[in-house]
Amino acid sequence: MGSELEKWVLMVTARTPTNIAVIKYWGKRDETLILPINDSISVTLDPSHLCTTTTVSVSPTFDHDRMWLNGKEISLQGGRFQSCLREIRARAQDVEDEKKGIKIKKEDWQKLHLHIASYNNFPTAAGLASSAAGLACLVFSLAKLMNLKEDNSQLSAIARQGSGSACRSLYGGFVKWDMGKEDNGSDSLAVQLADEKHWDELVIIIAVVSARQKETSSTSGMRDTVVTSALIEHRAKEVVPKRIVQMEDAIQKRDFPSFARLACTDSNQFHAVCLDTYPPIFYMNDTSHRIISCVEKWNRAEETPQVAYTFDAGPNAVMIARDRKTAALLLQRLLYNFPPQSDTDLDSYIIGDKSILQDAGIKNMKDVEALAPPPEIKDNISTQRSKGDVSYFICTRPGGGPVVLSDESLALLDPLTGLPK
Ligand code: DP6
Repeated sequence: MGSELEKWVLMVTARTPTNIAVIKYWGKRDETLILPINDSISVTLDPSHLCTTTTVSVSPTFDHDRMWLNGKEISLQGGRFQSCLREIRARAQDVEDEKKGIKIKKEDWQKLHLHIASYNNFPTAAGLASSAAGLACLVFSLAKLMNLKEDNSQLSAIARQGSGSACRSLYGGFVKWDMGKEDNGSDSLAVQLADEKHWDELVIIIAVVSARQKETSSTSGMRDTVVTSALIEHRAKEVVPKRIVQMEDAIQKRDFPSFARLACTDSNQFHAVCLDTYPPIFYMNDTSHRIISCVEKWNRAEETPQVAYTFDAGPNAVMIARDRKTAALLLQRLLYNFPPQSDTDLDSYIIGDKSILQDAGIKNMKDVEALAPPPEIKDNISTQRSKGDVSYFICTRPGGGPVVLSDESLALLDPLTGLPK
């Protein structure tokens, strides 16, 4: 490390996806190390629509660790950030950048300070697993900056200590978080079951449901569940282990009916243990329930599942359609049941991969208004069509894991000052 004259800034920028669990993690056996009471499985979402970008930098001129999220400075003092930073610094290696004439010895990392800037390409307030992508990206980008030798699975055990679900964002495609057996958490890590190309017909539509109140955080919700629910132990010990085996098999065989049945029933059971928590936790609302009914009616009418749904700790629905054709039919149904408010334009109501909208034959609001009721609800006169219950829909698909962005123009920090651009 150099003299006071040295003013260099070394940085790395990376992009990391979010993930949605299809077999849920809910409940910890160790709160500090973040060790779960059961395995879980997730699908990684395409980072072009939902991801976190993070730039991490180091310079002898920085006098303390600092972080900015979406342009606003936030504190790094929390225990979870501190765990991640400590674990990464402990594994840091020598780094040399010949072009810039920078040499950092591994022991120097304990004294050098970091600047970190992170940005989500989706609204943080929408409740779309922003912490999972954020913590995974922090760990991944720091690991690259400090030249760690660990693979993504070993890095996932560090990200896990930032937020449990973050460990599954270290891989693309289909990912399992193995709960592990060790008390020190060394075997509680993510493994990739299959990459995103393995089952690329799947299309994912997320309904961002308008929520009125702030929800119970996952961390405190699951703590209350473990302490008060009589059902959670049965779920963790008896139900989930069998579902994990079945889900791995369904993914491997691309067996959509089994995949959908497992994903839907596991989401429903997670919300059932929330209701069994005392005081009860309600994450889904009326709109969420109506989305479930809409999908269930259609699946039943078709006699085999067309779409799976799953809900995390909030009212948003994540729907997984078996292929593009089905996704177009799903979008028609969703737009029929949940039309946009009169002052909303279609372009901001359906975001992400808009080509699904074309497949559905919908070009403008007139086409939405002209939608006929889907055949499975023809006789049901009580169907509500209230506007404004869904804020917007995101069309996406399974996607890839973390990547380093080598294009320096994508960095969130200024290369000379190390401050947000
Ligand atoms: C419902 O990972 O947010 O999304 O480990 O306390 O940070 P902490 O909780 P978090 O919980 C996620 C819960 C879930 C299910 C899942 O993602 O598996």
